Amino acid sequence: MKIIASYSIKGGVGKTAASVNLAYASAKAGNETLLIDLDPQGASSFYFRIGASKKESRSYFFTKKNRLLKNIRGSNYKRLDILPANLSFRNFDIMLSSMNKSKKRLKEILSSLEDEYDLIILDCPPNINLLSENVFNAADMVLVPVIPTTLSERTYEQLLNFFQNNNYKKKIIHPFFSMAQSKNKLHHQTITDMEQRYPVFMKSIISFSPEIERMGIHREPVLAYASKKNHVQAYRTLFNEIVNVLAKDK
Ligand SMILES: Nc1ncnc2c1ncn2[C@@H]1O[C@H](COP(=O)(O)OP(=O)(O)O)[C@@H](O)[C@H]1O
Ligand SMILES: [Mg+2]
Repeated sequence: MKIIASYSIKGGVGKTAASVNLAYASAKAGNETLLIDLDPQGASSFYFRIGASKKESRSYFFTKKNRLLKNIRGSNYKRLDILPANLSFRNFDIMLSSMNKSKKRLKEILSSLEDEYDLIILDCPPNINLLSENVFNAADMVLVPVIPTTLSERTYEQLLNFFQNNNYKKKIIHPFFSMAQSKNKLHHQTITDMEQRYPVFMKSIISFSPEIERMGIHREPVLAYASKKNHVQAYRTLFNEIVNVLAKDK
């Protein structure tokens, strides 16, 4: 079993769009896949038409495998399950801080799902806090959408510095360009510069696409309703690239 986190310190960069489509691509490719919506806003759950998880005491999430399993829902797609978020997930940080081994609780609970799933995708909230550190400890890959602008570059560097200063393995970070606009000169220049400075960038680039933007209306992965469009296929290419990276990192 592998765990991929779709993560960025920033909001609105395409974490959820990537989570939803990569989870779909993974299931289509034959993997038993679980998408965990860690963001209390519940956007991933919304895209799959799944209601908020039950309002049970939030501590179940990190301690009780049975209750965690009970909250997992099937989706409309074969081999794809969803663990929806609810608003209480906003308190994960406070809860974790009162637990022992507070940075490894997510890793521990997810490893108990080893027999059930081939791939787990974590759709993360925008933050850098104790929950994020749990994500860094649990994930085999931290996939970071980067919109090719100056500010995103700065945020990406902050993440690298955080990893460096807190002894996390930088090699698990795999950035990709998100919402790139080929006709935008600044985007174009930023992509060229950053690819040179950071050769770890994924080759697949997710372009800005009205088709992807309309996911909220369709309420399904864009790969499920517009899979033939070039801009959309990029998610499948990105998934294949991820599979190769994970195989190499073994
Ligand atoms: N490649 C894209 N092209 C156009 N719009 C996009 C693209 N990716 C995401 N969006 C839209 O941008 C907004 C933020 O994306 P989202 O995936 O929710 O970001 P995050 O999870 O990082 O906050 C959403 O309205 C989404 O539909
Ligand atoms: Mg999101």
